[in-house]
Amino acid sequence: MSRILVVSGSPRAKGNCSVLIEQFCFGASQFNATIEVVRLHDRNIHPCAACRSCKESDEANCVIDDGMTDLYPKIRAAQALVIASPIYWWNVSAQTKLFLDRCDALDGPSGNVLRGKALALLLAYGGESVEGSGASHAIGAFQDAAEYIGFNLVGIAHGTAWEAGEIRENEIAMEMAYQVGADIARIVTK
Ligand SMILES: Cc1cc2nc3c(=O)[nH]c(=O)nc-3n(C[C@H](O)[C@H](O)[C@H](O)COP(=O)(O)O)c2cc1C
Repeated sequence: MSRILVVSGSPRAKGNCSVLIEQFCFGASQFNATIEVVRLHDRNIHPCAACRSCKESDEANCVIDDGMTDLYPKIRAAQALVIASPIYWWNVSAQTKLFLDRCDALDGPSGNVLRGKALALLLAYGGESVEGSGASHAIGAFQDAAEYIGFNLVGIAHGTAWEAGEIRENEIAMEMAYQVGADIARIVTK
């Protein structure tokens, strides 16, 4: 079964990232993929301690036992990883950044688990534009990471909305999220 793991870095259960995720799932629903959505804010995720224990072997797990522990096998099993984040301080939220730093444990002696996987981004921001909001920094970081790690950055859906749920009125963002969902699901079920 093709698996898509969606991680949300928004603290708002009914916020704009949740709406983009819903729309993503709607777009993906025309294909036969299993989608799991995880809220990072509900998990106790510590920062990477840079101990390098995870570099000892490909099987070595992160030594920190916390809200990331059961996420590692989910990431390994998924063909696609979708990261939804609000823009905070001109970049991804702290919840999202903790998750990303801890994904360094997936980079072992013989390569990175994310290499070859499909990735997508769903971003919500209060600012008027990609540049002014800081979404451009988040997008740039993922583009650089895609090149370095070798994952396939399939699509990015993003849009302006301040209040929780307001992004429903942003037709372009909703269409983008639907399309990214369809594109990712098509790739993983091929
Ligand atoms: C602490 C904090 C920092 C924020 N920083 C930015 C920012 O730098 N740029 C921006 O455009 N919006 C910023 N916002 C607005 C959020 O990105 C916006 O409300 C977004 O829609 C929230 O998504 P959510 O509903 O999924 O949590 C900030 C909001 C908060 C609470």
